[in-house]
Amino acid sequence: MVDLVAFGLGATIVLSFVAIHFARGTEWRASEDISQELLDRRASTVPETDFPEPMNRSIGGGGGAVAAVGGAEGEEAAELEGEDDGGFDPSAITDDEVEYFEVEFEKEGETIELANNKTVLEQGEDAGMDLPYACRQGQCVSCAGHITSGGNSEDYVRHDNQQMLDDGELDEGYTLTCVAYPISDFTIETGEAP
Ligand code: FES
Repeated sequence: MVDLVAFGLGATIVLSFVAIHFARGTEWRASEDISQELLDRRASTVPETDFPEPMNRSIGGGGGAVAAVGGAEGEEAAELEGEDDGGFDPSAITDDEVEYFEVEFEKEGETIELANNKTVLEQGEDAGMDLPYACRQGQCVSCAGHITSGGNSEDYVRHDNQQMLDDGELDEGYTLTCVAYPISDFTIETGEAP
């Protein structure tokens, strides 16, 4: 009985010391944020370079590591860019080379002739249609439409650097009208994104 009391007392004392120790902490304090002055001083010791520093993604570096880790994504992006560019320059089509194609805008209930040197979006607007858009550079999907004539949209339009639709979406007939130039007759539903 006496032993139990002594043991309880000892345990209480030990636990008290432990509690006090943790309550006081380690006295370690986080340092202040690195000042701008210090950053400037460090930057001034690094020579200017014309190429991206490894891992410095803010100026375009770190690509190697990203490619190594996310190789599939990198390849896909390269594929998209390579495919859609293809050296296509609609402004190089001279007046006597311009071809016209019949395009039906299903929702608007209009069928008009579109030239192959201007975008579907631009020509639809010129015809008085109120069509959706945002960036007008192939970098969002605000202007997306669905070509319902069957098959891949690129059987009907040529994209000038579209960066949003993948092969499967093109296959399903989707197009970005702001960078799509007609190469055949087709029917399109505007305002339809994949
Ligand atoms: S408006 Fe953004 S991709 Fe056409």
